[in-house]
Formats: sequence, C-alpha cells, structure tokens
Amino acid sequence: MKLENKEILITGADGFIGSHLTEMLLEKNCKVRALSQYNSFNNWGWLENISENRNLEIISGDVRDPHFCKKITKNIDIVFHLAALIAIPYSYVAPDSYIDTNIKGTLNICQAAKENNVARIIHTSTSEVYGTAKYVPIDEKHPKQAQSPYSASKIGADAMALSFYNAFDLPITIARPFNTYGPRQSARAIIPTIISQIVAGKKQIKLGDLSPTRDFNFVKDTCNGFVALAESNQTIGKEINIASNFEISMKDTLDLVKKIMKSDVEFITDKQRLRPEKSEVFRLWGDNTLIKKLTNFKPKYSIEKGLEETIKWFTKPMNLKKYKTNIYNV
Ligand SMILES: NC(=O)c1ccc[n+]([C@@H]2O[C@H](COP(=O)([O-])OP(=O)(O)OC[C@H]3O[C@@H](n4cnc5c(N)ncnc54)[C@H](O)[C@@H]3O)[C@@H](O)[C@H]2O)c1
Repeated sequence: MKLENKEILITGADGFIGSHLTEMLLEKNCKVRALSQYNSFNNWGWLENISENRNLEIISGDVRDPHFCKKITKNIDIVFHLAALIAIPYSYVAPDSYIDTNIKGTLNICQAAKENNVARIIHTSTSEVYGTAKYVPIDEKHPKQAQSPYSASKIGADAMALSFYNAFDLPITIARPFNTYGPRQSARAIIPTIISQIVAGKKQIKLGDLSPTRDFNFVKDTCNGFVALAESNQTIGKEINIASNFEISMKDTLDLVKKIMKSDVEFITDKQRLRPEKSEVFRLWGDNTLIKKLTNFKPKYSIEKGLEETIKWFTKPMNLKKYKTNIYNV
C-alpha cells in the first residue's frame, strides 16, 4: 500500500523518531494525526519544531486511556505506534509505569485499531528485546532476553501486538529498530551525550561503559524502514529488524565523534551511568536480511555521514539550549 494521501496516526510523534517520521510522511503528502502526550504546559515536544502544515493535526492525549485511543483511530488508514517509555535507567526506578504505557498502551492501540478497521498497524519494538547477542548478526529468530524492565515491557508489548494478528487477523507488523541516533535524540543516549558535552565546551566528559557494541542507525534510515514495512503487505504478522548490519563499539564511536569534531576531550567513567552487570547488553549487531528481502529498504547513511548531520544540528545554539549538559539525563 502506498502511503501518499493516506490518513495516518503516529503515536509518540512528539518524540525523537516520531517527529522525524511525521516530517517524512508530510513530505509524502500524507495526512498526519500526530499524538503528543498530554501535559498542562501545552508543550508538543519535538513537534514544536515542525512548521505548520495543513496536512498536520496535532492532538494531545495518552495511550493509557482506551477510550481516547478509540477516538483517535477513527477514520485512520495506518497507525505507526511509537509512544512508549524508553529510558532503561528510568525503567529501574519506575517499572510499573512501563507496564502501563508500553504493554497496556499497545493493547489499547490494537483494540482501537481493530474496532475501527484500521488497514495497517506498525508497532514499534526494539533491539533491546534480544539482550546481549548469543550469535551475530542478530536475526529475528534470536531468543529474547529481558535484561531490563524496559526490555521486558517491550517483549510483552510485542507479544500483545502479535496476539492480535493471530487471534483477530489484525494487519500488524512488528518493526524492531536497532539503536537509532540523530538530531533531537535525548541526551540519555550515548551519541547525544558525547556530542552535547563536547559542544558545551567540557574538557572532560562523563560516560558509562564504553566496551559494549551497537548497530547504530541514522534516524532517517530508521524512518525509511518504518515506511518500507508499512508499504509491503508481505510484512504483515512478522517481527522485522530495522538495522544497518554494521557493528561499532561505544569507544570507537567516541573516537569517531572526536575526530569529526576535532576534539581532544578526555572521558571519565561516571558510575551512575553503568548498568548492573547482568542488565548491560554487551553486543548488538542486527541482521537486516529479512527487511531487505520483503521491502525496498536499504540504509543510506554511513556512521560518518549520520554523525556529521547530528553534530551539525547539536552545534546550533538554539538546539543545544534544549539540553541540560551538566546533569545525567535519564
Ligand atoms: N531511540 C532508539 O534508539 C530506539 C531504538 C529502538 C526502538 N525504539 C522505539 O522507538 C519508539 C520511539 O522512541 P524515541 O527514541 O523516539 O523515544 P522518545 O522518548 O523520544 O519518544 C517516545 C514518545 O512517546 C511519548 N509517550 C510516552 N508515554 C506516552 C503516553 N502514555 N501516551 C502518549 N504518548 C506517550 C513521549 O511523549 C515521547 O515523546 C519507542 O517505541 C522506542 O521503544 C527507539
């Protein structure tokens, strides 16, 4: 199904990936209903950065409310469900809220989509569900390991979404992005943490364990992956990685950022940024064979090119001022 002119709901549109997906779909002439989590400041998160567009409708609310979910899925062709609590450190201190938002929120969206006969649903999973790789590259058959409450809640949410395909034929796809980075990402994540501290002029930057490896994806590649999954009917009922199939350690990522930014900054290990040992995911490297086989997806950004775009964005003072570089963001 081509997405042009379709009525699309994006949950989590106020967030990092959701705001980029909103922009990408508006460029494709889609009509986008963008959900921003309700707050009393009337703040729309990163949707504040998107210029007015007659095809964009911003609504505030909460996926934990089933009646609200039913209302916002009316007359919608496609749902991209990205709303979630995603910080691993915060999932150590408030795991209950992860059940409510990630599992119950997904149930509410699936139930509402079913009742309103939505034609396609893309539910967002995460590579964190795999835990530390038992083999590489990680394909979709890799076992799931709940190494954090966040991961556990996403495993539960994915299972709930798949159950709606099995029990009710709901046309759902489980999109499983590997680590995504780019403009607007929270400074909780490693790449924005490094860049924002360097741009803020720190001589020493505070980081966690730099030995783990990741499969980093530039946000525009991840969003292209979401679109490709929605456009293909062959992806229905399947769990599918969105990955670059390229592995790099956190230390090598730091060195690459330093090289691009011409920085000689030193790093110090900040104990509060270390995950408990059994909870640390030491290796993630995603196999993207399935998405390439079923769709026209192909990552376009090398890590160098993606980092350059990200650094350029963070270097603008109006962007950097949105970040608190002196505190540990969770
Ligand atoms: N960033 C990554 O590296 C990555 C990797 C794999 C998967 N994901 C998944 O992608 C999705 C988007 O992640 P992101 O990085 O953009 O995170 P993000 O935190 O920037 O975006 C998530 C958004 O969900 C919204 N939200 C949270 N609770 C809500 C609720 N109860 N009701 C309505 N909205 C609510 C928040 O306002 C937030 O803006 C998530 O499902 C995440 O698990 C992210």
